[in-house]
Amino acid sequence: MAERTARLVIDRAAVTDAIDRRLFGSFIEHLGRAVYGGLYQPGHPEADSRGYRQDVIKLVKELGVSVIRYPGGNFVSGYRWEDGVGPTAQRPRRLELAWRSVESNAVGLNEFTEWAKLVNSEVMMAVNLGTRGISDACNLLEYCNHTSGTKYSDLRISHGVKEPHKIKLWCLGNEMDGPWQIGHKTMDEYGRLAAETAKAMRLIDPEIELVSCGSSQMSMPTFPEWEAATLEHTYDFVDYVSMHQYYGNRQDDSMDYLAQSDDMEQFIRTVTAVCDYIKAKKRGRKNINISFDEWNVWFHSKAQEKDTVQNHPWQQAPHLLEDIYNMEDALMVGLMLITLLKHADRVKIACMAQLINVIAPVMAEENGTAWRQTIFYPFYHAALYGKGVVLQPIVNSPLHETSAHGLITDVECVSVYEEEAGLLTVFAVNRNIEENVILDIDLRNFEGYELLEHLVLEGDLKQCNGPEGEKIRPIRAERSIKETGKLSSMLGKASWNVIRMKKNKETV
Ligand code: AHR
Repeated sequence: MAERTARLVIDRAAVTDAIDRRLFGSFIEHLGRAVYGGLYQPGHPEADSRGYRQDVIKLVKELGVSVIRYPGGNFVSGYRWEDGVGPTAQRPRRLELAWRSVESNAVGLNEFTEWAKLVNSEVMMAVNLGTRGISDACNLLEYCNHTSGTKYSDLRISHGVKEPHKIKLWCLGNEMDGPWQIGHKTMDEYGRLAAETAKAMRLIDPEIELVSCGSSQMSMPTFPEWEAATLEHTYDFVDYVSMHQYYGNRQDDSMDYLAQSDDMEQFIRTVTAVCDYIKAKKRGRKNINISFDEWNVWFHSKAQEKDTVQNHPWQQAPHLLEDIYNMEDALMVGLMLITLLKHADRVKIACMAQLINVIAPVMAEENGTAWRQTIFYPFYHAALYGKGVVLQPIVNSPLHETSAHGLITDVECVSVYEEEAGLLTVFAVNRNIEENVILDIDLRNFEGYELLEHLVLEGDLKQCNGPEGEKIRPIRAERSIKETGKLSSMLGKASWNVIRMKKNKETV
């Protein structure tokens, strides 16, 4: 069989944009065992005096998450933030309607911001525009960001938090286009409310950045009219529009599953086009950028979720959305990261949803250890090495046939460049699950760059990790050869690759 070869041209002058570190964000919702039994589990051998699990903190820090969206998700549409502040013993237990759970409020926003500091992450806060509105969003912002001398800032101080949290990023509700959302709204209802809420919030703190809700997935019947109609109202008051999308191998067709990153690509292009259309229509000067604040693979646990939510009494921290990921899910996550990086000029924030136990890279056993899912690794690599600027990928790849997506490329890749550090990294997925591909990287104006390492994640597509150990973990492979002006890398079938190059010190 003839060798399959793909070609990537990298040119240091062809810069897409600088990478915003917030592209490597994540998400914690009061859902299932993300908070209770996840980051917080008093009595667990790994818990500190505040109840925070140190084994979880260690893995989240290792993952390198820059920003964490909180507290939802669907949860935020019924969120009463006051329930979760002040003396813990006086906090009410509530029925949590989004996930049919009992919320103890033992962890609230002051605990969460404290925890976020421990994992070196910024907090991205969401306000409730489901059951609540302008006044409540303003009170919450005053509590969080105003220094002192007012009702809510002094309330925060009375709760032992002297310094304001200075939360910069705020989501104006969550998935308000979805009929499942508590307080679901029409486009005009949401657009008006979001615009007026944003306007008022900016009067309290002009430094904040605001995210207007986009569609909750590309297949929503109101997409993309939702974006256009809501931005008509919010354009002047917001900085970002949100995107959400989850993928899954629902037909058990791996080739077609891995083609779904092309859908994500199309989704981003369309939302960008709608943002630019509204900008033009309004004769505006600013771009509305994208906060892709929920993305991941989510399908393994769908049956569990239905059963838990429908067939059980009200429970506290039930097992919900606990997808156990395999190797092909890690490839899909890698493909999604590449897609996000390719659009670094417009996608400035992205949150892998979620972080702990709930569709998560980090799992925490109730009576045991914390461990890394397969999807941990592509994210870890991207957050660690995805620094500097993205270079426009000029790629020529062989194609293969898929059932629903037709002919698609074998290789998806993107390169990032840190000029000062003299580092060049290529992230590449070979999504052909049957054949290896040689990737020839044309390094035209990267004289003096030598191979540092070629990291590979591969294995049986259905192999998962677990508390007993990691069957899927990256290895350092001898699969790249440097020649004059080019690097030739062998991408194994169905593999995630990180090819790192460094400028030779001798080179002037
Ligand atoms: O992340 C799980 C859920 O997915 C979130 O609560 C919601 O926003 C989305 O539908």
